[in-house]
Order: sequence, then structure tokens, then C-alpha cells
Amino acid sequence: MNQFEFKNPTKLIFGQQQLDKLPREIPTSSKVLIIYGGKSAKKSGLINEVKTHLTDFEYGEFGGISPNPTYENLMDLVELVKLENYTFLLAVGGGSVIDATKFVAAATLFDQGDPVDMLIKQIPATKAIPIGTILTLSGTGTEMNGEAVISVKKEGSKIPFQSPAIYPMFSILDPSYTYSAPLEQVNNGIVDTFVHIMEQYLTYPVNAKVQDRFAEGLLMTLIEEGPKAIKQPTNYDVRANLMLTSTLAINGLIGSGVPQDWSTHMIGHCLTAFYGIDHGKTMGIILPAMLEVQRVEKREKLLQYAERVWGLTDKSDETITLAIQKTRDFFESLGSSTRLTSYSLGEEIIPDILRALEPLAALNIKLGENGTLTLDKVAQVIQLAV
Ligand code: NZQ
Ligand code: ZN
Repeated sequence: MNQFEFKNPTKLIFGQQQLDKLPREIPTSSKVLIIYGGKSAKKSGLINEVKTHLTDFEYGEFGGISPNPTYENLMDLVELVKLENYTFLLAVGGGSVIDATKFVAAATLFDQGDPVDMLIKQIPATKAIPIGTILTLSGTGTEMNGEAVISVKKEGSKIPFQSPAIYPMFSILDPSYTYSAPLEQVNNGIVDTFVHIMEQYLTYPVNAKVQDRFAEGLLMTLIEEGPKAIKQPTNYDVRANLMLTSTLAINGLIGSGVPQDWSTHMIGHCLTAFYGIDHGKTMGIILPAMLEVQRVEKREKLLQYAERVWGLTDKSDETITLAIQKTRDFFESLGSSTRLTSYSLGEEIIPDILRALEPLAALNIKLGENGTLTLDKVAQVIQLAV
């Protein structure tokens, strides 16, 4: 097992009817801005319910955060937060709303120039306005991590940034809030969670038994509960298990002391930035092709995955092929197409994707757990994803 440090300061408040705990979690005398997305949280009545618990605070609200939020749109919100002197940001929504809130929290206090440089130049954000979240869609895991992914329109790119300052102080996780989410979005969340686990687990062995078993347990929970979430959309236990799985998949724990990959995400972000494909769907398209291209490099872990997750015990190349096929079949069975052709895209996108990944070299970011996923190999991944 590799050396590591692990700290996660986010308090989880999990289960139904927990909103009455909201006021005690927000620092006293805060001026609170409630931030939400299109209409879903308003329509379900959640925003009004949240307001009934904020009567001890001065508060305002801002709706209209769009999926895959952009730096350009969020800078208006940064100005509003500064103008009105908000001191606490409460995100109510899915990954897009929470990531947008994290960006605004850090951008408002950023004092090293244009906040776009937190993304483009990866200048670390050292301060942020404190935030809390009320999650309405599980999958991204942003509710318990120090990461956000924001699009920069002028660059045509979608860029992650990390900072200890943007961990939520608390996250209220009520699985029943996800009942109203379109099934397509639920699918996206399951596939995204699966890939988060694989990015940290499916690399090469370092004898990290705890992290491996933890990751395998999370993957098996997704395989068991994922299909039920689609067939029984208001089954509380199913939604609860999926929600906890997605939170634990990317809160730093299973990635501690092990090599990590994240190249499926880097390529997937390009597909979202250029062609507007949902994040979760890009994950389902890229992962099976990535495993195929990297099957020699990832061989030992692929065989372990095949045996422990899919019950395929024969240590052969055919087993690896079958495990990759089962992964693809699982995504497809949820209704998530794993082929670019379903989005009317083909090999012609390769030059765009490669061009978008070139600047990573300038930031000294190498793709793959060994830094050996060259642009040629990325092209092969795209070819296999067609
Ligand atoms: O805009 P609203 O009205 O909220 O509607 C949303 C949106 O249209 C809707 N929705 C959410 N909860 C609902 C609901 N509709 C009805 N009932 C509910 N309970 O679902 C649509 C999609 O929402 P969005 O927040 O965009 O989806 P998701 O949670 O999948 O978030 C995706 C974003 O998270 C980023 C992605 O890149 C993408 O921008 N990620 C963030 C990560 C992180 N910070 O750690 C890691 C991930 O890998 C990912 O990159
Ligand atoms: Zn993801």
C-alpha cells in the first residue's frame, strides 16, 4: 500500500426527514444564499421547505444553474454574492448545482487575478465561503469531496479543480429527494459512480486489501441495486444504498494509498464540452474502450475484477474480454448506450479530442495510472468507442 494522508471534513446527515437539523448546521449570523438549478427543486416544494427552516437567518435565493455550469455564467453569481455580502452558500440540487456553488464560493474570495485561472492555470484556491449541500441526485459524489468541474466556454473545455477549501461543511442526503429525478439521470448517476470506483481500483495492485475489498463491495452494490432503481423508482432502500455508494466512491477513502487513473474522466469531459453529452453517458462510452486499450497494463487488476466482481475465475485473456463485455452489458442494461454512434459521432472527432488534451502536457498532467496513456492510445480508445 502506498503512503497517504486522508482527511474529509464533510458531515453527512443521512436519511429521511432531516431538514429540521439544517439551522443548527449553518454558522450563526450567516447571510445565506440558497442556490438551485432549473425548476426541479422549486417544483417539488423542496426550496419552500428549506426556507421554512431558515427563519433565524437573513437569506436570499438564486435559481437557474444549468447542467454543466460555465465559468462565464457563474461570474454573474460571484458578483451578486460580493454585492450582497452573502457569508454562507446552500446548494440544493445535483452535481451541477453543487459544483457551481463550490466554484462561486472559491471565486468570490480568489485574490490572485481572474478566477478562471483556478481552472485554466490550476492556481489553487486557498479560501472559500463556507457551503452546505442538500443533494437531489446521486452519482457525482461532489457532496463529500473537495472537487468541482466547470466548463470554460471561451476555451471550449471542461476542467476540474480541487481545493480543501471547497469541501461542504455538511451534506443532507435524503434518498427520497431523488425519486423525482428522470430515470435517465438516475442511470447517469449509477454509471458515473461505477467509473469513479474503477478509476481508483482498476489500475495495478499495491496489496491494498482494504481499499480493494471496499471498491469491490461498492461495485457489487451498484450491480445489485442499479437495475432495481430503474424498475422501482420509489424504493427507499434501493435509493439509500445507491446514494451512500456514490458518496463513498469518491470521498477520498478508496483512493487513499492506491494508484489512480482518471483518464476516462479526462476524455469524457471533452465529449461533454464539445458535444453536450451528459457526464454519466460519456463515462459509459469511454470506460469499456479504455479497459480494452489498457488491458495489458491493467491485466492483474482486470483478472481480480473479473473474479471478485463477476465470478469469472479462469485466469485468461478470454476472461478479461468477458469481464469488459459484462461491464458494457451492465451499462447498456440500465439504458446507457456505450457507443458514440448513438450520438451520431464517429472517428472524425479524434482530432478535436486530441487537441483538447494537448494542453494537459503543459500542466504536467499525464494520462493513465502510469502516465503512459499517449495521445495515440487515446485515439484507439475513441476508435473502439465508436
Ligand atoms: O436543474 P435542475 O432543475 O436541478 O434539474 C436537474 C438537471 O436537469 C435534474 N435533477 C436533479 N435532481 C433532480 C432532478 N430532476 C428532478 N428531480 C430531482 N430530484 O437532473 C438534471 C441533471 O442534473 P446535474 O446536476 O447536471 O447532474 P449530475 O448530478 O449528474 O451532475 C453532473 C455534473 O457533475 C460533474 C459533472 O462533470 C457534471 O458537470 N461532476 C462532478 C464531480 C465532482 N465534483 O466530484 C465528479 C464527477 O465525475 C463529475 O465530473
Ligand atoms: Zn464522474
